[in-house]
Amino acid sequence: MTQPSKAMPYSIPGSSPARPGEVDPAQASTASATKVSDVLGESQIESVLSELDTDLVGLTSVKQRIRDIAALLVIDKLRSNLGLNASPPSLHMSFTGNSGTGKTTVAMRMAQILHRLGYVRKGHMVAVTRDDLVGQYIGHTAPKTKEILKKAMGGVLFIDEAYYLYRPENERDYGQEAIEILLQVMENQRDDLVVIFAGYKDRMDTFFRSNPGMSSRVAHHLDFPDYLASELLVIADKILTQQSYRFGELARDAFAEYIALRMRQPNFANARSVRNALDRARLRQASRLFADPEREWTRAELSTIEVPDIRGSRVFQQA
Ligand SMILES: Nc1ncnc2c1ncn2[C@@H]1O[C@H](COP(=O)(O)OP(=O)(O)O)[C@@H](O)[C@H]1O
Ligand SMILES: [Mg+2]
Repeated sequence: MTQPSKAMPYSIPGSSPARPGEVDPAQASTASATKVSDVLGESQIESVLSELDTDLVGLTSVKQRIRDIAALLVIDKLRSNLGLNASPPSLHMSFTGNSGTGKTTVAMRMAQILHRLGYVRKGHMVAVTRDDLVGQYIGHTAPKTKEILKKAMGGVLFIDEAYYLYRPENERDYGQEAIEILLQVMENQRDDLVVIFAGYKDRMDTFFRSNPGMSSRVAHHLDFPDYLASELLVIADKILTQQSYRFGELARDAFAEYIALRMRQPNFANARSVRNALDRARLRQASRLFADPEREWTRAELSTIEVPDIRGSRVFQQA
């Protein structure tokens, strides 16, 4: 690999334009599309969008924004097929919201959508935090950041708690170096890498205010609201179903009570807290069944979370 000269912008290898003979299947298939239905049919994004609807509970506004972005991209395809525009649309995004509101999950779906529409070659997602990009010593940051960018090329780079990159209190913070490299790549290789910044809304707002260059390159801001208690209960059903478990009679009511209590406690993290609570309920269920070694447990018993598996939680004792 040759080092770019000082004056040259950073360029991460592996990005488009495609090498001679290399044809992106997604791009090739939509190249002759003249109708929205052509692009939808050939890219098969409808299935990703409907999975998004059915797999993810709530998030109405987020789902609508994603449909809007998909519509924009489909129309962009039709326009470019008729030679109407030159530069690819800016797709860098910011996902703001509290912990466990689905930001990482939705970002992975976004990567799939972008891939199916041919906006990124591979459609994978690389999730990082400050420590993956910023070194501890002078000279360490650029190679670390470039290594991550190389891995993410052709897909989505998801930077969690992105505001930690910027530490105004440290005059010589190496985070600034990572930000500058990111800015260049976000601008020059935006046809092959989409960056999604994620984190708490207020801190992200401050981050963008202090980094206007970054802010101007982020085209889509999606806000992830906290879930309602009723949504968290449906999320619990989904998580259990995925793991081939279910709530027994009254256990679901007990879990609804659990959610109401847990939501008022510190460090409540939306759907993540629900997932963690169900992991612990499964542990208690296993101990309960384990305690009776001679009994032959049925399929139903092995897959049912019962009231004591829920009520055994510390959350009820503290209440
Ligand atoms: N709307 C939802 N429907 C179903 N499960 C969800 C939903 N949102 C989040 N989850 C689940 O909750 C967990 C935390 O979500 P995640 O995307 O990591 O949140 P964040 O990145 O905002 O902290 C994941 O296991 C995810 O599958
Ligand atoms: Mg996350």
